Amino acid sequence: MRVKASAPGKVILFGEHSVVYRGPAVVLAIDRRVHVSVEPREDELLFVDASSLGLSGFFNGEKYTSLVGGSIGEERLKPIWVAAKGVMERLGRRIGINLSVTSEFPIAVGLGSSAAAAVATVAAVGELLEGRLISEEISLLAFEAEKVVHGMPSGIDNTIATYGGGLVYEKGREAEQLRGLGDVPFVIGNTGVSRSTGQLVGRVGELRERNRMVVDSILDTISRVAQLGRDALLEGDLLRVGELMNINHGLLWALGVSSPELDRLVNAALNAGALGAKLTGAGGGGCMISLAIPERIDGISDAIGRSGGFPLRVRVSNSGVRVWKEEDR
Ligand code: PMV
Repeated sequence: MRVKASAPGKVILFGEHSVVYRGPAVVLAIDRRVHVSVEPREDELLFVDASSLGLSGFFNGEKYTSLVGGSIGEERLKPIWVAAKGVMERLGRRIGINLSVTSEFPIAVGLGSSAAAAVATVAAVGELLEGRLISEEISLLAFEAEKVVHGMPSGIDNTIATYGGGLVYEKGREAEQLRGLGDVPFVIGNTGVSRSTGQLVGRVGELRERNRMVVDSILDTISRVAQLGRDALLEGDLLRVGELMNINHGLLWALGVSSPELDRLVNAALNAGALGAKLTGAGGGGCMISLAIPERIDGISDAIGRSGGFPLRVRVSNSGVRVWKEEDR
């Protein structure tokens, strides 16, 4: 038997980093997905084939043996192992699994690939074991996997990968679904510089230790921007959404998580007529996101490309995690 599952990537529109501490963030699922396919194997190993991402290897318990891609594979593929192990523990069964994973969008650049992979893995392994996991359990088990890699994640990535659509996410609260967003045109710019979310969250934490009052007031201001951004988005006031994105970028810059590459792409998009632009995700490299009006999408994409970035046009997707047995299709 083979089970397939997929989950969407995401962009954070407002509130990255502040959401780790308090307050809301606005996050949107995108129409690019991570796909996972699982089938049982005779022994108790987990074989992960991520060859399209340049990685593959075996987990024998915690021990990773690389076949392709070397030791970085252990770091990149570990959430998948933790996710699969978590499901087996939760359902009280242990099996060996061949798992393959592919992504429709670049990994390790702030678009939520690791959470989408963890969510799709939980759903697929759950279905393989006929575990009937509900969405909340899928998200929680994927969160455990995220914790192993990111240290102190807020839970935003696994939540959006599970439910899809647009969400206002705040730790310890039920997420608010943003309905009727319409077709908001975004252009992502990928710097191509990979970075670690855990390290960047750690850096903000250290800055906060050294400058508690100043950093806390920046984090509070970001939370406020996220609240206002939510309202503007629901009102369809895109000029204001853009303005608030610009303010949010400045505040993230002040936290030290922007980079020369990100700033270059943000400026290029704004000069090409974007209504707003900011880094998205943990920063330090990875991606920025710009808000376009339809007639400027091409110009903004070109400007991002000319400034050394990789443009990616995305739409908001209402589709969260999906899982099916292959014979069902
Ligand atoms: O993993 P990324 O790059 O999408 O960043 C996630 C957003 C942070 O707020 C920086 C971390 C978190 O767990 O919320």
